[in-house]
Amino acid sequence: MANVIVVGAQFGDEGKAKVTDLLAKNADVVVRYQGGCNAGHTVVVDGETYKFHLIPSGALYQKTCIMGPGMVIDPERFLSEVEALGNLISVDKLRVSTTAHVTMPYHLMIDAAEEDSRGDQKIGTTKRGIGPTYADKCARSGIRVEDLLDEKVLRSKLEWMIPRKNVILERLYNLPPLKVEEVFTQYYEYGQRMAKYVSDTAAIIFNSVGQKKNILFEGAQGTLLDLDHGSYPYVTSSSPTAGGACIGAGIGPTIIDRVIGVSKAYMTRVGEGPFPTEQEGEVGDMLRQIGKAWAEVGVTTGRPRRCGWFDAVLGRYSVRINGLDCLAITKLDVLDEFDEIKICNAYRDKTTGETFKELPSIGASFKNMEPIYETFKGWKSSTSECRSYKDLPVEARKYLDFLADELDVSIAIVSVGPQRDQTIVIEDPIHGPKRVLTRST
Ligand code: IMP
Repeated sequence: MANVIVVGAQFGDEGKAKVTDLLAKNADVVVRYQGGCNAGHTVVVDGETYKFHLIPSGALYQKTCIMGPGMVIDPERFLSEVEALGNLISVDKLRVSTTAHVTMPYHLMIDAAEEDSRGDQKIGTTKRGIGPTYADKCARSGIRVEDLLDEKVLRSKLEWMIPRKNVILERLYNLPPLKVEEVFTQYYEYGQRMAKYVSDTAAIIFNSVGQKKNILFEGAQGTLLDLDHGSYPYVTSSSPTAGGACIGAGIGPTIIDRVIGVSKAYMTRVGEGPFPTEQEGEVGDMLRQIGKAWAEVGVTTGRPRRCGWFDAVLGRYSVRINGLDCLAITKLDVLDEFDEIKICNAYRDKTTGETFKELPSIGASFKNMEPIYETFKGWKSSTSECRSYKDLPVEARKYLDFLADELDVSIAIVSVGPQRDQTIVIEDPIHGPKRVLTRST
């Protein structure tokens, strides 16, 4: 029995779904603990592509899938995702927390209008209402899933809330006001359709721990998008880091056995914000275009991803912030055709010239860092058929060994293609050796 957290160790879109899908096979319960339909997970099984935004990827294994209290749920999208899954998942296997917050129409409208009004300060949000839903949660004015099930409560909350939101919509953004009755009717109906999935999910997890079941906590987005530990303000509004799993699922840290980080073999980012290793020319285009199945566009928004070389400074930061036990490296095959491959192993402060191997701060000075690269010879051959570490070209092994050494963490899994079997397991990601802290910042 092992309770495992899988987190994105970069800016999101690391290929977490493939890794959670791999681990979900041996899990009994798969839990999403934060975020909403800003996430996009793609899993390819037998050539069939499944895209999830809200439902945990464990759904394809008929596991108990939990959408925890730390999530924000757009009911319309949830119901259409359930419909698209058809009978791939049974009702009793899909559980939505009573206390998860609900993304309402005014959140969607405000997210889009606020972004458009920000000018050069825009964040590049997915416009799925995520920030405004979490803002209302913190302001203690949110609507929770349980409220959708209670006619009286829902009506009374909307009667208070909608006139306030209409002031913002009409006066600040020149948008049409919402009507209480219309929103109530639509969202109460959503509640009725969702009711059969709604439970006290923290209790289900607690009971599963007692029954010695294997629980997999599936993070969305990535460490550098964490509200507290990411590149603020260019972040999402939740806690994708390992600590967020405890808060967002409603469990104590003592039940966690293992934390697995997922990183691409290079790096991508969607939306605005600093990205020291970003490559805008030929290299960026190549990373974006190589491999049709891996086309680098956001699953949720279809926006082209910004692409760049692996950043080991941020990698070390992720290992530290999440307390990673091991790493899964995805999309190694995307590097197959490069003559040379770079890793940023240190930063130089553009003003002072000082160099750093550890991130001095994720605050304002982060923007002032330029990468110092190590260059590796490319392997120039396909890795997509490799199924063990020793099958990999020697240059690819050197590249991975360098990353493991520099990040001071073992690489347990390497993914060399989108299919389930295009995976190299180097070390048991769950029962492998527990990482021992040996370095300081
Ligand atoms: P929001 O989460 O929609 O508010 O967007 C905030 C920032 O996080 C933007 O830069 C988004 O592009 C980014 N973001 C949100 N969700 C994801 C994701 O699943 N993958 C990658 N980036 C994301």
